[in-house]
Amino acid sequence: MLTKAALALALIHFTTPLAYYTYLKTTWLNKPWNINRDPNYKPKVTVIVPTYNEAKFIEKKLDDIYSQDYPRNLVDIIVIDSASTDGTPELVKKWHSEHKDANLKLVVEPERRGKLYAILEALKHVHVESDIVVFTDADAFWEPRALNKAVAYFADPTVGAVTASITYTDNNTRENIYRSYYNKVRICESKIYSTPAQNGPFQAFRAELIWKYGLPDFPGSDDSSFGSYIAFTGYRAIQVDDVSVKEPVRGSEFRRKIRRAQHLILNFLKTRNYAKRKGAYKYVKQFEKIWWIEWWLHIVNPWLLLISILLVIVATYKGLLTSTVVLIFGIALLIFKPYRVWIMQQIYLLLASLRNILTKEVTWER
Ligand code: GDD
Ligand code: MN
Repeated sequence: MLTKAALALALIHFTTPLAYYTYLKTTWLNKPWNINRDPNYKPKVTVIVPTYNEAKFIEKKLDDIYSQDYPRNLVDIIVIDSASTDGTPELVKKWHSEHKDANLKLVVEPERRGKLYAILEALKHVHVESDIVVFTDADAFWEPRALNKAVAYFADPTVGAVTASITYTDNNTRENIYRSYYNKVRICESKIYSTPAQNGPFQAFRAELIWKYGLPDFPGSDDSSFGSYIAFTGYRAIQVDDVSVKEPVRGSEFRRKIRRAQHLILNFLKTRNYAKRKGAYKYVKQFEKIWWIEWWLHIVNPWLLLISILLVIVATYKGLLTSTVVLIFGIALLIFKPYRVWIMQQIYLLLASLRNILTKEVTWER
């Protein structure tokens, strides 16, 4: 009985995402975009780079934006630094003195309040004529045509937010398995209508939507809640497949994974109601479906696995032979990397839910 219940839960846990993934991949991955891109559309863009102790990367990052294949007079850069102690703002000033034709503004905050509040603060400095606002991380590197290609999607008036696909600079295969799975899911969701997750290393927004609706500011709100919020206004929030951004894996992978999972969970718990409260919410059938499947996968599904494992352990403890076999089988499967990566992701989501109850940090260590 216990073993049967455990198997049933495990079955739901594994088949829902698998069925969803298979459906997306077979039906949507190779479909053309139903978006009218225009490579000649060249609106005014503001790129916002939040920094906290980025001395190692900031000059390369500015070079990277500066050398984008996009008319330089149409690009404003805002660096918002929160009391870095490693001389980041000085490096920004030095870089600007060497690149006088870059429209760069440095904003220095007297204390560190976290990335979220820094970028919300930076919005106050965006020129009114800006059509597109792009947020990016100091350690994220764009291919030279990234901005050019991403902006082209905004020529379609239904598009409100565009995020790039991430690849890792290190040969961290775990990250790459995780990414290649999620990149596909996000792109398919985007082709259907919108995706609820976005990537902080490159996320672009139609500025007028920010002025009209604002952006989420609840603690733990982040790249994905920004994207989901825009999707809830009825505009499309998409991840695209022709813009890729590289990001090094740095600091503790474990800490970072938990934090990402915490932010994703908060996104799924809060953004929809937040949009309703702000009067920004508009019902879009295609996105609602995607939202609730992803909500299930992030909020409910990991717990089914946990309960299932606990049941099997209890049954094994009681000396049931079938449950012992099931348990050994479940453990043996860990030799397969994708399965291992999946299980780890579930553990991150579970730990992150618990951690969300205890703390909502707005600043982080690497
Ligand atoms: N101004 C400011 N103030 N910037 C900050 C602060 C702060 O207090 N804290 C972090 N940043 C900046 C960093 O300098 C970097 O440019 C960017 O925010 C992302 O921070 P990282 O330290 O590089 O964190 P990450 O690589 O783990 O970030 C990932 O997860 C975040 C959410 O947890 C990325 O996906 C981010 O885009 C995402 O926001
Ligand atoms: Mn980073």
